[in-house]
Amino acid sequence: MPKLGVNIDHIATLRQARREFDPDPVLAARICEQAGCDSIVAHLREDRRHINDRDIRLLRKTVKTRFNLEMSLNNEIVQIAAAIKPDQATLVPERRQEITTEGGLDVRRHFQKIKKTARLLQDRGIEVSLFIDPVLDQITQAKKSGVPMIELHTGQYAQAGDKTALDRELKKLIKMTRYARDLGLIVNAGHGLKYHNTKAVARIEGVEELNIGHSIISRAVWVGLETAVKEMKAIVRP
Ligand code: PXP
Repeated sequence: MPKLGVNIDHIATLRQARREFDPDPVLAARICEQAGCDSIVAHLREDRRHINDRDIRLLRKTVKTRFNLEMSLNNEIVQIAAAIKPDQATLVPERRQEITTEGGLDVRRHFQKIKKTARLLQDRGIEVSLFIDPVLDQITQAKKSGVPMIELHTGQYAQAGDKTALDRELKKLIKMTRYARDLGLIVNAGHGLKYHNTKAVARIEGVEELNIGHSIISRAVWVGLETAVKEMKAIVRP
């Protein structure tokens, strides 16, 4: 059964609504860990719209489980990651205008840059993962790049409008997980997962970790962060 990584970006989104101090994503990370999450995920975006440099410095010092930094291939961000040394760096595409990460990394298109960036980070002892769509060619390219871990984008599954689409997207995730595992890749998954649609993804054989943010932080408004994490953990690892 997979592990649960909690993405705390949206605690910082709330803080940035006032650009003051509360709520603090570093404190949120501690609460998520106490509630039983297996890793803390944060995305240092180029525009710093939520998580900022101070957050990742402190997260590096205080996270007791694993710190998974989501990041683009931008040179400045890569230099920061190399200096901070999170346990893991998940390479994601990034567009300034997007509301959230829209699609997976195009590994074929950015092959050389991904390879170079991954090697630089790995040389500093950071594990590297590629956030990609559940598409055969992207997985094949990921394997060729020498990066041993991928995170399959579950956005299309999460946004499926009816049962037919949901079944189709789930089958795709199952098939692509099997393909990636057969190539020897470590497979994680995430994006857009909610309390009602996570169970089926958590049951896919071979998925090692689910990374979930927005739905947990949203639920925390009603039931508190600790309970929200525990509820999701019970779905992922009953
Ligand atoms: N995984 C990756 C690579 C992401 O970029 C995000 C969003 O930052 C997530 C997982 C979590 O997505 P959500 O907030 O929709 O659960």
